[in-house]
Amino acid sequence: MNNRLQAPEQSEALVAVLQWLKRQQYEFTTITPASHSLVNQRPGNETARDITGILGWSRLFTAEIAGRELFDLLQQANVLSAEGGLWRCSLRVSSLAGHLFLHSAFPTTDGDTVFFGPDTYRFANAISQYLALHKPHVQRAVDIGTGSGAAATLLAQEFPGAQVYGVDINEQSLKLAHVNGVASGLTNLHWRFSNLLNDLEGEFGLIVANPPYLVDDSARIYRHGGGLLGAELSLKIVEAAMQRLAPNGVLLLYTGVAIVDGRDLFLSAIKTLSNIGNMQYEYREIDPDIFGEELQNPAYVDADRLAAVVLTLRKL
Ligand SMILES: C[S@@+](CC[C@H](N)C(=O)[O-])C[C@H]1O[C@@H](n2cnc3c(N)ncnc32)[C@H](O)[C@@H]1O
Repeated sequence: MNNRLQAPEQSEALVAVLQWLKRQQYEFTTITPASHSLVNQRPGNETARDITGILGWSRLFTAEIAGRELFDLLQQANVLSAEGGLWRCSLRVSSLAGHLFLHSAFPTTDGDTVFFGPDTYRFANAISQYLALHKPHVQRAVDIGTGSGAAATLLAQEFPGAQVYGVDINEQSLKLAHVNGVASGLTNLHWRFSNLLNDLEGEFGLIVANPPYLVDDSARIYRHGGGLLGAELSLKIVEAAMQRLAPNGVLLLYTGVAIVDGRDLFLSAIKTLSNIGNMQYEYREIDPDIFGEELQNPAYVDADRLAAVVLTLRKL
């Protein structure tokens, strides 16, 4: 097995997998790793009984359960490994707003994991809620740290006349996002390798991001947010957006923040930014307690909690 996409034939086979799944009306909602692990440990859940067991729950499976057509496509995509007479797929497929997204299988331990999780759903909901109330004029939009390309895909659908970019520093993300984008049928999506906005030119009417925000001891790029107990990268995104938003352009940033002695480290840092006065911003805590198990990490010894927040920032 090779779970890293290299050959064009692999991508073509994966597009065919997504198209096959769409015809079967496949749906799967990805939950937290802790919950996923609990469900998979229940007796009887060692092996897959259906397609969601294979491609959602990342369970071992037999070729019969996959069926000939899907099994052949997964083999052509080179994403299967043999384990004790059974098979396992190195990718997962999750559904969101009528689209399907390939991402890394559970458990996500590799450094170049392609992320999709509960944060993706909260992020997508925050975008939908914002766009239901405001209709920014968007010619160019960018999703920073696009992962599987989920938010970029939603924006490409919402703004068919706009060019939508998904950027990431994980090559595997860009490859899977490309496959997901082709399967979506949307033609205004573009994928680029870029550290934040450093490798992409121009201004944007809409910038969205769900960046890594945790303190990850192995510094995996889909999780590790750097200093300020993980808020450093989010702060860099705010600074980059302030430089690159078109007039009236909007940044929508979904992120997680550490609250220490009742103080939100990220919000405190935003307030100290020198040109924040040229921006109109709104800051909402949308979930007071996420990933509570992370508080066991000694890095968080002074933290009360981790909260999910949404920052919207408009350039005046
Ligand atoms: C938590 S994941 C979120 C993925 C996706 N936005 C979503 O909501 O499912 C964070 C993503 O940011 C990417 N990333 C991390 N550092 C980055 C950087 N400096 N520039 C661009 N992308 C980065 C990671 O590779 C990963 O794909």
